[in-house]
Amino acid sequence: MKILVTGGAGFIGSNFVHFVLENTEHSVTVLDKLTYAGNRASLDGLPDDRFAFVKGDIADAELVDGLFTEHDAVVHYAAESHNDNSLSDPSPFVHTNLVGTFTLLEAARRHGIRFHHISTDEVYGDLELDDPARFTESTPYNPSSPYSSTKAGSDLLVRAWVRSFGVEATISNCSNNYGPYQHVEKFIPRQITNVLRGERPKLYGTGENVRDWIHADDHSSAVLTILEKGRIGETYLIGADGEKNNKQVVELILAELGQPSDAYDLVADRPGHDLRYAIDSTKLRSELGWMPRYGDFAAGLAATIQWYRDHENWWGPQKAATEDRYRAQGQ
Ligand code: NAD
Ligand code: DAU
Repeated sequence: MKILVTGGAGFIGSNFVHFVLENTEHSVTVLDKLTYAGNRASLDGLPDDRFAFVKGDIADAELVDGLFTEHDAVVHYAAESHNDNSLSDPSPFVHTNLVGTFTLLEAARRHGIRFHHISTDEVYGDLELDDPARFTESTPYNPSSPYSSTKAGSDLLVRAWVRSFGVEATISNCSNNYGPYQHVEKFIPRQITNVLRGERPKLYGTGENVRDWIHADDHSSAVLTILEKGRIGETYLIGADGEKNNKQVVELILAELGQPSDAYDLVADRPGHDLRYAIDSTKLRSELGWMPRYGDFAAGLAATIQWYRDHENWWGPQKAATEDRYRAQGQ
């Protein structure tokens, strides 16, 4: 297949591109606007005969139309992805997550192209800390932030384009990813790079909020499985049973970097902060036979810490500006 990957210079998209080129014979074109979150260097060293890069906006209908004529499938990662940014300025979230997805769907409809939409577990809102429940494909949508509401809106657009126009689409909603190439604004890279720079990790509120962590490679293998074997019109939840509260994650980072377990600061909480996410991925595992490979979160985290130690040239240029933004918010 010739796959068009939107947002392939971002965190999860770039991990997917590496994964596909290393594990399959498919070729890949990345379409990415290179916003503050995109980094061309995340795609360095890929083979010229199977990889191409196009800089552009997914909401540019003419550009998208031309690219759709040359590909067999689209995997749509491009998004504004950070909750905190969506609280200070929601407008790029509406542009990219809603108008951008609409533009791609219209092109998919014109060209009859296979479309896979990447989404998030945040569309389901949050769970209580002591609730044994987990999200399933039939959990009602209840997004909390401008980010998650635009992602929920984009999922609904995809569902409508499948039903009304016969677009051959699938959707996946994944939990929190960790691994290489993640921007330093996000929780795990922020804390690792704080410690590497001699600063203390910053926990929002009391640090009790729970996220369900999955390695980016496991997300990639799940997306490839759905692209190749998923049933058109279906939604699949992706998760690897990795629930941890934020304090536990910071303590693991501090231990790995030889710091005392209480060497962190509690800072201002995120307004509307979702308490807990948890994914039940039974459908994906039983219908399509997918299994995660990274069972040991502490080992995956240690490898991620080593990657940030080895790649200061990749994250260093963005660290100071990111911390300036957080400082202005009291975080
Ligand atoms: P990211 O912010 O690291 O990367 C987003 C990429 O999209 C960047 O390369 C950026 O330049 C590009 N982009 C933004 N606007 C664009 C536009 N208008 N046109 C073209 N390119 C544009 O995000 P991420 O964390 O890699 O997330 C990727 C996708 O996965 C998103 O759809 C997100 O909702 C979803 N997701 C993320 C997670 C997670 O834990 N990070 C979990 C589940 C789902
Ligand atoms: O669940 C999937 C979602 O995971 C994706 O859809 C989003 O794109 C992705 O950014 C992520 O959203 P979160 O808001 O969960 O991720 P973030 O890394 O921003 O924060 C993770 C948790 O850590 C959350 O409870 C907030 C907390 N946090 C975050 C930062 C940046 C801190 O305690 N301190 C921090 O400095």
